[in-house]
Amino acid sequence: MSAHRFTRADPQHDEEDRDLLRDLHKLTFWETAPMPDFEEPGGYWWLVHCGREPVAFCGMREGYTYPTHVYLYRAGVVHSHQGRGLQRRMVRTREALARKLGFRGLVTDTSYDNYRSSNTLIRCGFRLFIPRVRWSFDTQLYWHKEF
Ligand SMILES: CC(C)(COP(=O)(O)OP(=O)(O)OC[C@H]1O[C@@H](n2cnc3c(N)ncnc32)[C@H](O)[C@@H]1OP(=O)(O)O)[C@@H](O)C(=O)NCCC(=O)NCCS
Repeated sequence: MSAHRFTRADPQHDEEDRDLLRDLHKLTFWETAPMPDFEEPGGYWWLVHCGREPVAFCGMREGYTYPTHVYLYRAGVVHSHQGRGLQRRMVRTREALARKLGFRGLVTDTSYDNYRSSNTLIRCGFRLFIPRVRWSFDTQLYWHKEF
């Protein structure tokens, strides 16, 4: 099995990247999950390949709720590559860029029953909090990490 290769995607300008992100979103998220606008400015996206096969994607957005923080936005791993720590690596990759860009921390939210994402965030040093304005459902869990 080849190693997983992370690359920055450029869905604003590259149609192939955009299509790959959309395909991976359809493969990994439930049917009713809204498709992100991959072309929206302020978004950063990554693709993960194993050999030539695209197996995971993730994103982050600036200016979502807290201007000083970046919002971790979507992460999906195809079924056959789950359970290998890819989500954790995708959090670390996004954190590294957010630090480099000078942001003060990260925020995100997860569904209360998404134990995998919660455990990944705990492992990566996130804390639960109640934001001033809940940007998603009341039942979501809200997380932050300060640099
Ligand atoms: C959520 C998702 C991204 C996780 O990806 P992954 O790389 O396969 O993650 P893992 O299976 O390695 O699990 C991540 C953590 O959860 C733990 N975990 C795995 N299965 C678990 C379970 N059933 N219950 C609780 N914790 C579990 C793992 O041990 C790991 O924690 P650790 O790093 O402390 O060991 C993947 O399952 C997915 O794409 N799901 C569909 C889309 C989705 O829900 N995306 C996230 C919402 S934005």
